[in-house]
Amino acid sequence: MGEHTLCALVDLAPGTAQRFDVGGHRIALARVNDTVYAIGDRCSHEDFSLSLGEVDVDNCEIECARHGASFDLTTGAAMTFPATEKVASYPVVIVGGAVVVTLP
Ligand code: FES
Repeated sequence: MGEHTLCALVDLAPGTAQRFDVGGHRIALARVNDTVYAIGDRCSHEDFSLSLGEVDVDNCEIECARHGASFDLTTGAAMTFPATEKVASYPVVIVGGAVVVTLP
């Protein structure tokens, strides 16, 4: 699928997440300081949007707003119950102030 520009870095405030639907993928972009991470937006516990959850900047995780499972933003790994399965993670680069994600 290749590279997709999702937004400008300035449009994603530090400590927040946003959902993007692109190329058949549902992606949660999350920003920790000046680093942006992209993981699958669909919680692996139930179908809930991870981008609606809270970004934990200290642990580089995002917490599902529905039942509280946390996911590692760097790998998509499920860190706490009730989720046990990882979600996808996607490479992100910042190019000229734009957030670019590579999809498989
Ligand atoms: S739907 Fe995310 S923890 Fe249950």
